[in-house]
Amino acid sequence: MNDLKERIAAQLAAVRDRSLAYTDAEDALLTRQHSPLMSPLVWDLAHVGNYEELWVLRAAGGIEPVRPEIDDIYDAFKTPRKDRPALPMLGPGEARRYIEGVRGRVLDVLDAADLTAPDPLRRAGFVFGLVIQHEHQHDETMLATLQLSGEPGLVRDGELPPARRGGPQEVLVPAGPFLMGTGTLPWAYDNERPAHRVDLPAYWIDRLPVGNAAYAAFIAAGGYDDPRWWDPEGWRWRQESGATAPLFWTRDGGTWWRTRFGRTEPVPMDEPVQHVCWYEADAYARWAGRRLPTEAEWEKACGWDPEAGRARTYPWGEDDPTPARANLGHRAARPAPLGAYPSGASAYGAEQMIGEVWEWTASHFLPYPGFRSFPYPEYSEVFFGPGHRVLRGGSWAADPAAVRTTFRNWDYPIRRQIFSGFRCARSATPEEA
Ligand code: AVJ
Ligand code: FE
Repeated sequence: MNDLKERIAAQLAAVRDRSLAYTDAEDALLTRQHSPLMSPLVWDLAHVGNYEELWVLRAAGGIEPVRPEIDDIYDAFKTPRKDRPALPMLGPGEARRYIEGVRGRVLDVLDAADLTAPDPLRRAGFVFGLVIQHEHQHDETMLATLQLSGEPGLVRDGELPPARRGGPQEVLVPAGPFLMGTGTLPWAYDNERPAHRVDLPAYWIDRLPVGNAAYAAFIAAGGYDDPRWWDPEGWRWRQESGATAPLFWTRDGGTWWRTRFGRTEPVPMDEPVQHVCWYEADAYARWAGRRLPTEAEWEKACGWDPEAGRARTYPWGEDDPTPARANLGHRAARPAPLGAYPSGASAYGAEQMIGEVWEWTASHFLPYPGFRSFPYPEYSEVFFGPGHRVLRGGSWAADPAAVRTTFRNWDYPIRRQIFSGFRCARSATPEEA
């Protein structure tokens, strides 16, 4: 086995350990639907195996279907999440046996594959990167389900670096072009391609994500009751939902509390805010006299190296993420405090852009100029349009294998069970530019 194959095998094993850890529970917890927004956990579990069967075994490996009769059950487009409990899903034990059987054959395909072949599914191990990232994304979704369920046991004791006070509130990104997206990262998704030149006027962007203290000040100032700050659709959401704070926050005895995986604790005021929807982020920004960054502004501030005239894979450069650079991979089950990662700063000095929380941007999820769907339109293309807003960066629950400066996530603007937060931006004045 060469290096790349060994890396792939290690990542396949790691992501499977993760999925099995999240589903190492009583059958009832796995088969129950905890929220109409989410699938039963046992659906996610078998779905990742079915996805591996479709893409690695059948599409790349040319292997006959293992269990074609269950394809429809695990096709996300055939049944919306709210209706999935009614599906004749595999039970937890059967699901584990199914995904283990598929995985054995996947390793055989890996063993036999020529990863230098021109076939775009095999080249550089693309199809293995596809299933590794897919499973990590479902693992993060399972964590969101578990958070909604109130299930304890997911808080971990990985050390996070302490808060670091001081430093500027914003960093200036001077006017000029940069390369957005990628033409070179081998495991990038179709929606990250092709790389293309984007010329931006000068702007300021927050050095750090918006913290709980700042967000609590917005609440205390009556931000949830003042339609001036809200997008009209957002105001409607605000009225209908009755929301008065981020999801999982409660008020008691003059203190804000949050519940995190079954544990209720005072809201740590020095952490990035999470569990806010796009409308809340947008309203906060307007109240603060700012706005959300566009996706292009976010990516330039995160990944562009103006001196080298090159895009970086991570804010700090090309080195793989480590616990010293970013809070990823479910180390502690919370965002790290503000300022914790000076060594994770981007070329422009923005910090904590990767890890902590997915950051809402102002942008709709749209194709880049020259986009071509690969390997199938249902990953990205069918979601393009004004219905979804783009999130960037990756949360504490995202795995290093599934984040980079060009990675694009998206969701409906009302969603907040995801690990979402934001930072603000503003256009530079002519004197500042
Ligand atoms: C990229 C996170 C929006 O979960 O809907 C999982 C990823 N696509 N299975 C999602 C995905 C197919 C996707 N997101
Ligand atoms: Fe999926």
